Amino acid sequence: MQAEQAEFLKEYLPIFRCPKSGSDLRFVGNNLESTSGGYSYSIPEDNIPRLFVPNDWDASHDDITSRMKDFYEETPFPNYDDFDDAGALIDKARKGVFARLLDEQIPWNARIIECGCGTGQLSNFLSIANRTVIGADMTLNSLRLAQEFKEKNDLHRAFFTQMNLFRPCFQPESFDVVISNGVLHHTSDPFLAFKTISTLVKPKGYLLIGLYHTYGRISNDIRRMIFKMSGDRFKGMDKRVVDTKLSAAKRKAWFMDQYKNPHESKHTINEALDWVKKIGFSFVSCIPKSNPFEPGFSESEQLFKPMQPGNRFERFLVDTGMLVTGGSEGGFFIIIAQKK
Ligand SMILES: C[S@@+](CC[C@H](N)C(=O)[O-])C[C@H]1O[C@@H](n2cnc3c(N)ncnc32)[C@H](O)[C@@H]1O
Repeated sequence: MQAEQAEFLKEYLPIFRCPKSGSDLRFVGNNLESTSGGYSYSIPEDNIPRLFVPNDWDASHDDITSRMKDFYEETPFPNYDDFDDAGALIDKARKGVFARLLDEQIPWNARIIECGCGTGQLSNFLSIANRTVIGADMTLNSLRLAQEFKEKNDLHRAFFTQMNLFRPCFQPESFDVVISNGVLHHTSDPFLAFKTISTLVKPKGYLLIGLYHTYGRISNDIRRMIFKMSGDRFKGMDKRVVDTKLSAAKRKAWFMDQYKNPHESKHTINEALDWVKKIGFSFVSCIPKSNPFEPGFSESEQLFKPMQPGNRFERFLVDTGMLVTGGSEGGFFIIIAQKK
């Protein structure tokens, strides 16, 4: 194991836990072992701890985890451009507004976990300001790209681990910020996933979730249908799929993720706010704003400043308005909530 990874694991061992038994972990050679005995997790040459364990649901609970894992192993998402380095990552993240606002507004000493980090762009980016960021995902080929980028660019505060977000390998209340962007809608049980990762948030800490929107996603659904019926002709209908400024790997990853994904669910802002209430968190903010009478989202938005959620009807107006605006790229909305 790389010295830096070993040091990190030693320093942060108290926040890790056995994803099967929930007990503490300890080092035994190059493995992590549960202190209650019986379970051991390897850390091979690629420096990625293998802390993924499958769900233990009974047969009546649908489980698409292994199907999704196979899909992303084949096409890691979002992948990197051919000449990406830390400078390019900063440039792109800043253009993306959301990543830039996170970077400006999350304190430098915050401890962050990104559940479903994919190829690790956001985790690597947020770690540049010396925050400790753990990127967790079940897909090894994505994690390898994330780790490779981190190592090549000397990003000393980003760490990657394999994990099933339904069976976290971290102690409850270990993180100031828990982010999961574009992930929960690819699971069999998005609310259970939401509830499970919310346990990782420290008191007064934040949970940020990006979800596909029921109406914002309709134009994507239409393109998917056209691609399917035409044998994937007319790819120019999605500018990203044909954008030659992106690497071929990135274009393919986008096309597969958006149009060939084995599973995605869609949600409304009203529904996500009900989830926030059910887990006992407070609503902080939403992109787009959930209250149609608030000024529109600005490039200097204060993400962590509580805003009025609007009433159910006002949120319904914003939800249906997503039919026209499409939300952010890919028909997304983002909810930020705070643990009390
Ligand atoms: C669409 S990608 C999003 C990647 C990244 N968050 C982004 O915004 O670019 C979805 C990711 O969720 C991960 N994922 C899905 N279900 C998961 C689970 N049960 N545990 C951990 N990761 C999961 C997949 O492996 C995949 O990398």
